[in-house]
Amino acid sequence: MEKTLLIIKPDAVERSLIGEIIRRIESARLKIVNLRYMKMTKSVAEDFYEVHRGKPFYDELTNFMSSGAIVPMVVMGDNAISGIRELIGKTNPAEAHPGTIRYDLAVSHTKNSVHASDSPANAEREIHFFFPKEQV
Ligand code: CDP
Ligand code: MG
Repeated sequence: MEKTLLIIKPDAVERSLIGEIIRRIESARLKIVNLRYMKMTKSVAEDFYEVHRGKPFYDELTNFMSSGAIVPMVVMGDNAISGIRELIGKTNPAEAHPGTIRYDLAVSHTKNSVHASDSPANAEREIHFFFPKEQV
């Protein structure tokens, strides 16, 4: 069993897609084992996306991620990290495959509805960023 972090981003919360995204995760036989509803400040969003500091999209991304409510959650299952990445699709919805969350629901490259950890090391860091007591 593996755990990963998924975030429903502000564009999806705003459009009332929390239920739709959770339904897709649960339909993929993954379990949601922790969940919050919250808003990040700009500086918290900057810390979360530390690895992207200096990139051209960093300011737009951190402004967007602190613009409204988000729903971070811990998702558990066999191969949950790669499984969730497949379920969400490519970063740019224009390049994502039909049936993925980003192809079906995302608005733009930045407003792409969901975040998901991309490796075991990042999953541990990102889970603890929002859920400090979570056992990973
Ligand atoms: O989220 P993912 O791991 O698929 O992509 P990333 O390369 O780690 O980028 C993090 C986030 O930055 C993306 O999900 C997009 O919201 C945003 N981004 C962007 O706005 N423009 C880009 N050219 C690349 C990423
Ligand atoms: Mg990433």
